[in-house]
Amino acid sequence: MEKKLRYAVIGCGVFGNRHIDALSLIDGAEIVALCDKYIEKCEERKAQYNLNANCYTDHKEMLANEDIDIVAVATSDQAHKQATVDSLKAGCHVLCEKPMALLTEECEEMVKTADETGKLLMVGQVCRYAPGFKKAKDLVEKGVIGELYYVESEYAHDYIKARGTDDWRVTKEREPIIGGACHAIDLLRWIAGDPVATSAFSNHKMLTDWPINDTTVAIMKFPNDVIGKVFTSIGCKRDYTMRTCLYGSKGTIIVNNTDPYLTLYLEEIEGHPFAAGQLENLQEKAVRHMIKVEINNHNVREEHLQMIEAVVDGKPLVTPGREGARTVAVCRAVVESAATGKTVDIKYTV
Ligand SMILES: NC(=O)c1ccc[n+]([C@@H]2O[C@H](COP(=O)([O-])OP(=O)(O)OC[C@H]3O[C@@H](n4cnc5c(N)ncnc54)[C@H](O)[C@@H]3O)[C@@H](O)[C@H]2O)c1
Repeated sequence: MEKKLRYAVIGCGVFGNRHIDALSLIDGAEIVALCDKYIEKCEERKAQYNLNANCYTDHKEMLANEDIDIVAVATSDQAHKQATVDSLKAGCHVLCEKPMALLTEECEEMVKTADETGKLLMVGQVCRYAPGFKKAKDLVEKGVIGELYYVESEYAHDYIKARGTDDWRVTKEREPIIGGACHAIDLLRWIAGDPVATSAFSNHKMLTDWPINDTTVAIMKFPNDVIGKVFTSIGCKRDYTMRTCLYGSKGTIIVNNTDPYLTLYLEEIEGHPFAAGQLENLQEKAVRHMIKVEINNHNVREEHLQMIEAVVDGKPLVTPGREGARTVAVCRAVVESAATGKTVDIKYTV
């Protein structure tokens, strides 16, 4: 039998548990170490998944003691950079949760360290692994909706009970547009390319006891004269949504990672590859097609399978460190625009 890749998880909270859960179901992986500021969280996970793993409260001690191939970093956002850089320097590949970090300088250091050590760095921009979003990108790339001209995505998620361990989300530096809407921004970047400029507004009317704006809307200019919009609210009174609309010259896609159907509107029926069999509702000019998609909005298993393929077979990563860093660069430009009231040209440094 082939050697299993030896994994460690740093940060054993809510999302660290998702990583442990996914890894426990992957044949080629074994978890050999767990680390959390609170040792009891490691012990709980160890017992829950019946792991033969050592538990630590200090990742440096863990990296010094253990033989680890891949580290999954699922700490609070503020701790991503240090855990990632130390793990890379210790000779491990790293899958770091999104957002890669809260500052562009931190992202640059992470990418530089990966380059210098020759280790793989992946960022958990998990929307790129959600079946509906993958389908949407595929349809756009195949030209099904023609030329894109407008794209929009939203991240609306009530955080009232999602403060994080020791309230790490309830901090000035944890801007929702970075921590939450990095998903929507990354998705639009993946489909429409890197935006060049943004103009944004924020307000603070919902989570008034949090030290941070809770709602932001940003308009953006993408390559090829595509324009777009990202909306985020972390105080909204509704279910979590990442509704995304992609408008093209021949059709429109509406897709949400919580919806079992992707909606595809097409201008005409005849001769179109999607005409056969799936017509539902003939409107004046557009025809609505409903395409069944699996709901798997936090497909962490797929992230790890891709990471393992990259380590074992050298397959390129879908969400390498540079992609995570470029998404944070856009998020920072949105924050700057909302703070200054000016349109900001987006600078990509990696
Ligand atoms: N991909 C997604 O869709 C998604 C969803 C939720 C959260 N996340 C990300 O996952 C990460 C964790 O979020 P969460 O909801 O699990 O938060 P959480 O508070 O439940 O868990 C974070 C854990 O990290 C530990 N921790 C913090 N600093 C540490 C350090 N220096 N060393 C060791 N342990 C440390 C905390 O004790 C805590 O147990 C965040 O970066 C968050 O943005 C991603």
